Amino acid sequence: MLSAKIEGVASLAWGLPSFRTPEYIRDSVSKALANDSDIGKYALPDGLKELREMVAEKHAQETGVAVDADTQVVITAGNMQGLNTLFHVCLNPGDEIIVTDPGFASHFQQIRLCGGKPVYWRLQEENAWALDVESLPKLITERTKAIVLVTPSNPTGKIFSKAELLQVGAIAKANNLLLFLDDPYLYLTYENKDKHFNLASQNELLDNTVYCFTFSKCYAMSGWRLGYMILPPQLKKEALKVHDATLICTPRISQVAGIAALKGDATHLRTFETVLASRRELIIQRLSRVPHVFDYIKPEGAYYIFPRIRVEHENAREFAIRLLNEAHVSVTPGSAFGPSGEHHVRMAFCVEESVINEAFDRIEAYFGRE
Ligand SMILES: Cc1ncc(COP(=O)(O)O)c(C=O)c1O
Repeated sequence: MLSAKIEGVASLAWGLPSFRTPEYIRDSVSKALANDSDIGKYALPDGLKELREMVAEKHAQETGVAVDADTQVVITAGNMQGLNTLFHVCLNPGDEIIVTDPGFASHFQQIRLCGGKPVYWRLQEENAWALDVESLPKLITERTKAIVLVTPSNPTGKIFSKAELLQVGAIAKANNLLLFLDDPYLYLTYENKDKHFNLASQNELLDNTVYCFTFSKCYAMSGWRLGYMILPPQLKKEALKVHDATLICTPRISQVAGIAALKGDATHLRTFETVLASRRELIIQRLSRVPHVFDYIKPEGAYYIFPRIRVEHENAREFAIRLLNEAHVSVTPGSAFGPSGEHHVRMAFCVEESVINEAFDRIEAYFGRE
């Protein structure tokens, strides 16, 4: 990363929450390290049974869909590893996966690494980054294998509507496509809890749906590398072949941390959301002071904002490099998130308020206030 070479950069580039893993999880792992003689050993490839059973119960509570811990749950080393496994399973060279544009850059890279082709499905910026369901059928070919959805979305913070998601589900089913639901920001929906809809709740889509949850963001456990997938039994069998051949199992110590996380009452989430909501207010307030530099749409969830660049610039990359070198502020060029991300930058507001303020003080000093 270029920003590592410059000292004292105010960074809004990393999507890494500033929070520590909650104490009750850390304490429980300390105890297990002292007392559990198996803690340093492999687990079963699909994960510890106790954790899979807790996951199945959590999923049933959240979606109303009953799943079997033995045939439909895999404990992953985070959603990146889960999605990577799925792409390996479903892609032959030249096959296609539909991804939102803008969308999560690692999905595109992983699809390409598997010899596949990411097919960009443009979100409607003019409609606050909503899905454009009408344009979806035109993107489907006989090579299309799956559609990837992230809601709340990275990098826009958009929560897709229930009606749109149900339409996407119906289109996927009619075309025999898989739906990969990558869900890192499930609980970070602020005042929009009622708007958030989980497509994994639809019984009629079960054969087409893989639901991926990660503990990285909502439990501040990004370094533990822990998540899970809920998937149809036949697909689990196939996924385990890749999972076992590449990872054997998710680190057992992280799975033990996951058991502690799910046994807890998740009260930390209230704190996370309160803090993040106030950081969101701050970044919006600071952005609104530089309307000649950025236009923005208020994010509904997650902790990203994806403003359009209004000052003169060549492209998002050139702008981000200039901002870094000349103002010592680091942001992610929007073009990394797909062609529609060009002329935007992504700012992550999961950092301390002092960092947000410092970054915007520098932006104001560099571009001037209007
Ligand atoms: C959409 C999306 N998927 C996956 C990840 C990574 O998740 P994990 O840490 O579980 O691999 C991120 C992290 O930024 C993300 O935004």
